[in-house]
Amino acid sequence: MVSVLQVWGYADEGWAADVAVVVSELVTNAVQHGAGSVVLEIEAYGDQVIVSVADGSSVVPRRREPDGRGGRGLALIEALTRRWHVEEHQGGKRVRAEIQGYPDPWGPATETGSGREHP
Ligand SMILES: Nc1ncnc2c1ncn2[C@@H]1O[C@H](COP(=O)(O)OP(=O)(O)OP(=O)(O)O)[C@@H](O)[C@H]1O
Ligand SMILES: [Mg+2]
Repeated sequence: MVSVLQVWGYADEGWAADVAVVVSELVTNAVQHGAGSVVLEIEAYGDQVIVSVADGSSVVPRRREPDGRGGRGLALIEALTRRWHVEEHQGGKRVRAEIQGYPDPWGPATETGSGREHP
């Protein structure tokens, strides 16, 4: 997953590590608390990257009081994203999380021209 971001030009390792945490927490939640097959999608629009994880359960994730067994995943996601929301998806749901903007003001250094060239 981090290598996908690298191929897309998102070279900042600290930022990519945060994306990996969001992916991991969302996929873990879908497997542990959701149902059916789990689908991960990553979209990139310049400095904006969106991680979506769908599962077959229509139960909506809710923050809960942390205890010895967990309850920290959504708090972590909240800290690492601009916002996140849940949408209906094929009888189940999809959680979409907008990652904090990519830290390089010149944007991802892509070769395809969608990011800007570094001076
Ligand atoms: N994909 C999901 N489907 C249904 N319920 C969910 C889903 N994701 C989260 N939830 C609900 O939201 C609660 C809070 O999720 P959160 O990730 O914060 O905690 P956790 O998964 O219980 O523990 P931790 O992530 O710290 O191991 C979960 O306990 C669960 O009840
Ligand atoms: Mg969790």
